Amino acid sequence: MRSRNLLSVCLAGACMAQEALSVDNVQVSLGGICQSPTHASFPGMSVCLSENITLVSQYENDTTRIPIPQDAKQAVSDTLDWTFKKPCYLAGTTEFCVFSSPTFAQGRGMSLVTTAKRAAAILALPSFHDPELVRGANQDLEPDRPHVYHVVEVPGKGLGVVAAKPLYRGDHIISNTVSLIIDYGAHEQMPQVELNKLMAAGIEYLPERHRDRMLNLSTHNDADAYLEKVQKLVATNCFDLEPIDDSPHAMQAVFPEISRLNHDCRPNAEYYFDYKTFTHHIHAIKPIAQGEEITISYIDPVETHQARVDRVKNWGFECSCSLCSAEAHIRNASDARVRQINELRDEFEDYTTKSRATPQMGDLMVSLHEQERLIASLYSAYTYAAIEWNGVGEPWVATKYANLAVEYGLPSVGPTDPDVKEMQKLLSDPWGHWSWMLRTKKRMSWGKDGKEVDGKKKEGEDDEED
Ligand SMILES: *[C@@H]1O[C@H](CO)[C@@H](O)[C@H](O)[C@H]1NC(C)=O
Ligand SMILES: *[C@@H]1O[C@H](CO)[C@@H](O)[C@H](O)[C@H]1NC(C)=O
Ligand SMILES: *[C@@H]1O[C@H](CO)[C@@H](O)[C@H](O)[C@H]1NC(C)=O
Ligand SMILES: *[C@@H]1O[C@H](CO)[C@@H](O)[C@H](O)[C@H]1NC(C)=O
Repeated sequence: MRSRNLLSVCLAGACMAQEALSVDNVQVSLGGICQSPTHASFPGMSVCLSENITLVSQYENDTTRIPIPQDAKQAVSDTLDWTFKKPCYLAGTTEFCVFSSPTFAQGRGMSLVTTAKRAAAILALPSFHDPELVRGANQDLEPDRPHVYHVVEVPGKGLGVVAAKPLYRGDHIISNTVSLIIDYGAHEQMPQVELNKLMAAGIEYLPERHRDRMLNLSTHNDADAYLEKVQKLVATNCFDLEPIDDSPHAMQAVFPEISRLNHDCRPNAEYYFDYKTFTHHIHAIKPIAQGEEITISYIDPVETHQARVDRVKNWGFECSCSLCSAEAHIRNASDARVRQINELRDEFEDYTTKSRATPQMGDLMVSLHEQERLIASLYSAYTYAAIEWNGVGEPWVATKYANLAVEYGLPSVGPTDPDVKEMQKLLSDPWGHWSWMLRTKKRMSWGKDGKEVDGKKKEGEDDEED
């Protein structure tokens, strides 16, 4: 069981975001200043791109079909117009290039900064050969569709997202297919200035409306140079994606619309990334009033005050969310709850006879999450409780908690999350689920010749059970 969705706000991004949140360090919106290189309002940018990007590629000119390895070839539809583009950069023996599709997701487009091998692995994923999978994925961005949110100036935070109507738990807020992906291998192996050029080109190759949205993102200060602006824009707004291939490197991903959501340690919305469609989804996890700001957490919320502060200090900033700035006795009480949540989790995840986990501890786990307002991870508390109750042979209490785990899990971590699927399995047949009677000592030792059973009871002799 994971305590956090695989997708997280990347370190640099969280760092920059914290800067934006601290009271004296107000996020500066660059809307309207930072424009596409092709816009007359930002003279010199297109020159900057064409003059200053050094082409280190062996390829002759800008556009060629991606050299797709044979095994990936069958998977990639010819209907998707994927190209690799200059500039490329040769770092030792590894060449990083820009790969771009103007037609991905019904013309929204997408760019990758990575190697040809990795691009092929990404293009072999379902959403890149079945356009139907991402049809309508970005429909909340359609101009004619009524939005459930507005982007507005939020005092002290620059731009933010507020609810346009009352929202309830589970309500969908925003979905975006990914706009720009950058391989962390490129961060490791390329000089920053060269990588900035590739990222700028990746943005440049996006269809115009999409590109404008990217370049409209805040970079938290007024970067003068265009390439520096691109670097900051990516660092400030990226999320981390797990590797989807055998590469050890994770990936940075930018979703310009979702990046408008500000941070809160106890947010009212949660995000999850669907690797099958390369789509990022945001749902309400509690009621949100019309006009209320919609927030997500940029850090793991299940941390004590000092851990939060230290983590943020590592990046040189102060944590300024309401929980971080609470009075000492309130923070201390919160810390005690967080510590107990972590201790309980260790017990629950011990599936041996040594575990002291009980159903009542499952109830306590749920209660601690409620007291701590940890709504985003409440589904995991319900999951533990369901397992523990089923583990002592109480299928109806287990069913109640499994239902709650699914209800809270769907908006928080999505339908493909392993916990959500496990709870759906438990719901369909508690007696057939692996957790059934798990915590009943006698039952646990079945298959071990009864050696660990008190009183040397054997299978089937359950007269002492209650
Ligand atoms: C860019 O930001 C400006 C000012 O906030 C806004 O008027 C404009 O519509 C934005 N452009 C896009 C493409 O989002
Ligand atoms: C291109 O790079 C040179 C040297 O780094 C710099 O002086 C010049 O201003 C750059 N051009 C643009 C348009 O940014
Ligand atoms: C390379 O592409 C550019 C723009 O796409 C074009 O202007 C130029 O003529 C091309 N060069 C060659 C050698 O084909
Ligand atoms: C909070 O906890 C810290 C560290 O345990 C302790 O030093 C401090 O006195 C506590 N403050 C209050 C108000 O309880």
